[in-house]
Parts: sequence; structure tokens; C-alpha cells
Amino acid sequence: MARVTLQDVTKRYGDTVAVDRVSAEIADGEFVTLLGPSGCGKTTTLRMIAGLVELTSGHIRFDDQLMDNVPTHKRNIGLAFQSHALFPHMSVAKNIAFGLTNRRAPRAEVQAKVEEMLDMIEMTGMGDRMPSQLSGGQQQRVALARMLATDPRVLLFDEPLSALDRNLRDTLKYSILELQRRTKKTAIYVTHDQSEAFAISDRIMVMNQGRVEQAGTQLDIYLRPETEFVANFVGDNNTLQGTVRAIEPGTDGIREVVVDCSGMTVRAIAPADLAAGDAVSVFVRPEHIEVLPDGSREGQDGVLRGKIVQLVFEGPTLRMTIDADGVPLHVSVSGTERLALLDQANASVWVELRNPSVVKNPPAV
Ligand SMILES: Nc1ncnc2c1ncn2[C@@H]1O[C@H](COP(=O)(O)OP(=O)(O)OP(=O)(O)O)[C@@H](O)[C@H]1O
Ligand SMILES: [Mg+2]
Repeated sequence: MARVTLQDVTKRYGDTVAVDRVSAEIADGEFVTLLGPSGCGKTTTLRMIAGLVELTSGHIRFDDQLMDNVPTHKRNIGLAFQSHALFPHMSVAKNIAFGLTNRRAPRAEVQAKVEEMLDMIEMTGMGDRMPSQLSGGQQQRVALARMLATDPRVLLFDEPLSALDRNLRDTLKYSILELQRRTKKTAIYVTHDQSEAFAISDRIMVMNQGRVEQAGTQLDIYLRPETEFVANFVGDNNTLQGTVRAIEPGTDGIREVVVDCSGMTVRAIAPADLAAGDAVSVFVRPEHIEVLPDGSREGQDGVLRGKIVQLVFEGPTLRMTIDADGVPLHVSVSGTERLALLDQANASVWVELRNPSVVKNPPAV
């Protein structure tokens, strides 16, 4: 097992900067996911950690050992890609044993390991089958067993489930997580699927255009996006424009930012770089906008008056567009209170914006 450190890791292909000064520390045993849109540099980053792509500049370390010039086969990593590529002419057992046989491990040890791995992936007794006799999910589990059999220090996954259908993806992502938890190995997982990233990660690194925009827990990323990109890429958000009135010491010593925004006052946790007068974007999740029973709270923080202009019942959720003085707010209601709103098309309502987050606007160019 190992801690993985990336220090200003950069990859250029001619004029294209695929990965741009990425720094990160992934703790021993941690499960970290690189999440981002197509072309943002996830695979390139992973392949540099694997030693399959050479760094243009920067350094990669496993614990304190510099990896920059260590070839892939000497890094002791386990790799899983989109196509699991089992050897079709070899039995399940031979596939799992492949890495160990290559290292000329004693026969008894190899056999014991294969049995242990088959138990772990809940495929005991299936060692003699050929890959063509397995379902897609079983094949992927054998690929995981093959990866784990050599006891690698670091597990690297590049969209290992993206070729599978949805149900299988849902079960296998938990199999991967469980195997990682049980073996306590450091894992770095690449995906562009948010729900996958949210379900399995200790920490998520959101990438955009070769850079890490934000690294943090699911809650950090979802409730406290640090950039406009993160706010809009992860889940849905409403964006309002505002101006910072003040920064105040809030409760529990957490600094609060007070923002004048669409005729109301909004309070949020203050990012470090804000000052009074700054132009900011205020982000509010559709499920964090509450329709109030009446107007008795008008004038309070985060309370706005508006009109329901669109109402779509999707079963478990009710989606609405509420026009607040020309600003369209997307609202999603999923509790039983949604049923009471069904016949409220065109009604005037009051809404409360909860858990807003604030990001400083980039300077105009
Ligand atoms: N061998 C290469 N030669 C030139 N450009 C490359 C090469 N490999 C990757 N790139 C470019 O580097 C950028 C990052 O590519 P990368 O494969 O890391 O993206 P990704 O985040 O994995 O995307 P996806 O989600 O589509 O797999 C892209 O602009 C890509 O076109
Ligand atoms: Mg990729």
C-alpha cells in the first residue's frame, strides 16, 4: 500500500496541454475519484501514475519513492480499464493466476491465491470456466480478481464499468468499493459519471481543462463549490448575480458573506478570497428552494416572491420554474408537500433559498 503524491504534474502534446500542473496527495488506503467532462485530462493523469505516459514536467511519488523513471511493470500497480480484456483462451483460474505465474511464484501459492480470489469475488468453484462462459459482470469481477491477485500497492481504474449496462454498473461499483475496503489499498478511479463518483469515493477531484478545479468530499463539492465550473458540472444549480455587502464573523467562528442579490439578502459561508464590493455568483440547488406557506417571512434573508410559471409532475419529484422578478428559478420538490402544489400553476408564492454558495466572479476580459 502506498500514499500517492502528484507534484505539478504536466503533460503536453504539442500545443495541447492535456494535464496542467496537477498537484494532489492521495493518502494510503484512500479511494479518490477523478471526475470531469470528456477531454479534461483524467485518463492522461491516471496513465502518468501508471507509468504508461511520460510526464512533460512534475513528479510522482509512491510514499517517498520517486516514480518518474520507474517502468510500469516495476510500479506494482493494478490496472483496470473500460474493456477488461481477459485472455479468452485461458480459464478463469489461469487468468487470475497470470501475474503470479509471470513472477514464477510457487505452484501451491498460486493455487491458494486463486482460490482466495475466487472466494472474494463470490465465484468459488468457477475457476475452470472460460471467459466466454461468463456474464459481463462475472468477467469484470474476474478482471478485478486478476488485478488484486498480485497484491499491488495502488489500484488504478479508468472507467471500468462504462461498457456495462446500468444495473450491472450499480452492483459492480459496490463490489469494487467493497474489495478496496477489504484490501485497504489506495485506489484512484476515473469516471465522468457523477453518481458513480459520489457513491464510491472518499474524496473527489473535479477536473476541467487539465486542471483540478476542486478536491474534496462529496459534501464539499456539492454544498461548497469553489468555482463556477464545479457548481454547474456537479448536479443542477440556479445561478443569481449579487454584490458582497459585508463579510461577518458568523456562528461557530465560520465567516459569513452577506450578499445583495435580486432584491434580497443572502448569507453563505464565505470563501477566503472575498471582500466587500466584489461581484459574485450565488448558487442554489433546485432541491434547496422551499416554497413557503405564506408571505409572513417576506423581507427575511433568502426569501423571495415569485410566480409559478411551469410545473411538471415527474412522479417522485415535482419540478417547477418560478419567476422571481424576471429571474427564473428551477425548483425541485420531492416530499409529500409536492402534492399540495400540483394545482398551483400560475400562483404567486414565496420561496426561501437555502444552503446557497457564493463564488467570486472572474474578472471581466
Ligand atoms: N496521445 C495523445 N496525443 C495528443 N493528444 C492527446 C493524446 N492523448 C490525449 N490527448 C489530449 O489530451 C486531452 C486529455 O485527454 P484525456 O484522454 O486525458 O481525457 P479524459 O478526461 O480521459 O476524457 P474522456 O472522458 O473522453 O476519456 C484531450 O484534449 C486529448 O485530445
Ligand atoms: Mg478517458
